[in-house]
Amino acid sequence: MAKPRYSRFQPARKTTSSSSMILTSLLIFTFLVLILLALGFLSIPTASNHHVSKPNDLTHIAHNTLHTAEDDDGNGEHWIEVVSWEPRAFIYHNFLTKAECEYLINIAKPNMHKSSVVDSTTGKSKDSRVRTSSGTFLARGRDKVVRNIEKRIADFTFIPVEQGEGLQVLHYEVGQKYEPHYDYFLDEFNTQNGGQRIATVLMYLSDVEEGGETVFPAAKGNISSVPWWNELSECGKKGLSIKPKRGDALLFWSMKPDATLDPSSLHGGCPVIKGDKWSCTKWMRINEYKIN
Ligand SMILES: *[C@@H]1O[C@H](CO)[C@@H](O)[C@H](O)[C@H]1NC(C)=O
Repeated sequence: MAKPRYSRFQPARKTTSSSSMILTSLLIFTFLVLILLALGFLSIPTASNHHVSKPNDLTHIAHNTLHTAEDDDGNGEHWIEVVSWEPRAFIYHNFLTKAECEYLINIAKPNMHKSSVVDSTTGKSKDSRVRTSSGTFLARGRDKVVRNIEKRIADFTFIPVEQGEGLQVLHYEVGQKYEPHYDYFLDEFNTQNGGQRIATVLMYLSDVEEGGETVFPAAKGNISSVPWWNELSECGKKGLSIKPKRGDALLFWSMKPDATLDPSSLHGGCPVIKGDKWSCTKWMRINEYKIN
C-alpha cells in the first residue's frame, strides 16, 4: 500500500516545487516592480520642484545660470531657460557652436548692407533711423552648415523648415541699435507669402562687452529680478533684457497660443556701448514661406 501512496504523493510534491518556483518568480518580479516604482516616486518630487515656480518668477534663472559646463572646443552645455511667459520667450543656451557662429559671420561679411525696414504699403525695403545696423540675407538651405542650423531651429521651435524665411545676419557697431518694434505685420502685403510671422529665433554670433541687449519693454513680471540686472545698460533696464552671448538662441513668439497677435512681444536691440554685436535672425511664418 506504500507504493500507491508514494505514487500518489509523487505528483503532488512535483506540483509543490513548481508552484513554489512560480511563487519565487512572482516575488522577484514584484520586488523588481517595487524597485522601479520606488525610483519613479523618487524622481517625481524632483521634477515637480521645477514646476512650482510661478509664471514670470525669474528667480530660478540664477540657479540655472550657475549650472554650465564647457567642452574642449569652448562649446557649453545645451539647456533651455524660460525667460518669460508674457511674451513667451526662451533661451536655448549654446545653440550654435563657435565654429558655426564664425562661419555665419564670414559668409555674411562680404555682403553687408545698411539695414532697412519693410515698407508696409509697398513691401519694399526702406532706409530707417530706427534701425542703424547693417545686414544681409542668407538664402534658405544655401549650404550644409545653414541647412543644419535650419533643421535645429525647426526642432527647437516645432515649426517646419519650410515655414522659415532666410536667415538674416546683422552687425551692430558702437552706438548702433534697433528701436522697439513688433516682428508681426499689420498690413496685407507682407503676409501674402507665408502669412503672419509667428515666432522669431534670434541667435547671438558674438559676445558684446557692454550694451546690445535684446530688450522687451512690454514684458510682464518683475524685470529687475534677472540675475544679470546689474550688468545691464540704461536701455537694457527699460524692460526684460537678455544679454547677448555667443552661441545662445533666443526664441520668442509674436503670436499667442490662441493665434492672436501678442503685443508683449515688442522688442528692440539696445545700442552697443563697447565692442560690437553680430546676430542672426530666423523669422517663422504660420504657413509655408516660398523661396524662389
Ligand atoms: C523685483 O525683484 C527684485 C530682485 O529680486 C526685488 O528686490 C524686488 O523687490 C522685486 N520687486 C517687486 C515689485 O516684487
